[in-house]
Amino acid sequence: MDLSGEVAVVTGSGRGLGRAYAEALAASGAAVVVNDVDASAAEQVVSAIRAAGGRAASVVAPVGGAEVADRLVSTAVEEFGRLDVMVTNAGILRDRVLWKMTDEDFDAVVDVHLRGTFTCARAAAVRMREQGTGGRLVLISSPAGQRGNFGQTNYAAAKAGIVAMARTWAMELARADIAVNAVVPVAATEMTRTIPAFGPVIAESERTGAPFPDWLRRDEGLGTVEDVASLIVFLASAEAKGITGQAIGIGGDRLALWAHPREKATAYADGGWSADAIAASWHGGVGAEPETYGIPAPKVPEA
Ligand SMILES: NC(=O)c1ccc[n+]([C@@H]2O[C@H](COP(=O)([O-])OP(=O)(O)OC[C@H]3O[C@@H](n4cnc5c(N)ncnc54)[C@H](O)[C@@H]3O)[C@@H](O)[C@H]2O)c1
Repeated sequence: MDLSGEVAVVTGSGRGLGRAYAEALAASGAAVVVNDVDASAAEQVVSAIRAAGGRAASVVAPVGGAEVADRLVSTAVEEFGRLDVMVTNAGILRDRVLWKMTDEDFDAVVDVHLRGTFTCARAAAVRMREQGTGGRLVLISSPAGQRGNFGQTNYAAAKAGIVAMARTWAMELARADIAVNAVVPVAATEMTRTIPAFGPVIAESERTGAPFPDWLRRDEGLGTVEDVASLIVFLASAEAKGITGQAIGIGGDRLALWAHPREKATAYADGGWSADAIAASWHGGVGAEPETYGIPAPKVPEA
């Protein structure tokens, strides 16, 4: 994929998935604005990109409010002349079950993920519309947002909201030729190594240098950050023209298109439904095959 002449911003790209996205975009020829709250991590990524012959600049600041979003876009324009791709990746976790989750836990996660995606996408859309040459917004969601996940009220809500915003903006920005897609990644990072079923396997392959086992890469769809970066490069490229409003999953050996929510079963009652009528028909009617919820527990093969 040749992204020469393109300019991208990747939020939260000091480590983990964001770093892989920034490095892969730069390796394909794009100039990249690296952003993180961790100054030394951001500087390391900029140095690594430059050492590999690429172009990069950094903005060390917390994504969330409008002021930082505007700075990300203005840095892209001042350093590299334009903005073509915005990847909203920055994220944190504050996991607690509902009855223990504080307002601060809720607000912190919503601020970085949901508000940060909104403010960065808005600033990017303003600039891309002014340029008049289209653009790409790549919003990072999560399986937790698609299905719900134990202990992740704040995170699941923010990540579900991000997919809803992708669908909304795909409509609003179509005339400006700005494509908007949500990516649903799974990869071994600081975030996922805390999952009990995955942590020891990830640690073992890091220790021995062996690739992740097939069951992890295929059945669980969990691989490296580089596996996910391929999708970001594709979505930034000319090859992805016309793809918009989609939620696309990737991890390990698996690439997937997530279904949009739809009415799965419908029934009609002349004049509307009384509570008694719903009760009488529910189990044999629209409720006959209830949906599952939650991310399925990992299936770890027996040793
Ligand atoms: N790892 C996975 O399997 C997985 C799965 C689904 C979704 N995601 C999402 O992918 C994204 C990256 O995840 P990761 O696993 O690489 O996480 P990570 O914790 O390894 O990296 C996140 C980066 O974002 C930075 N960051 C945090 N708050 C920030 C802020 N306000 N402004 C700027 N930078 C900030 C951190 O310093 C860090 O460098 C997140 O949005 C995450 O929710 C990851």
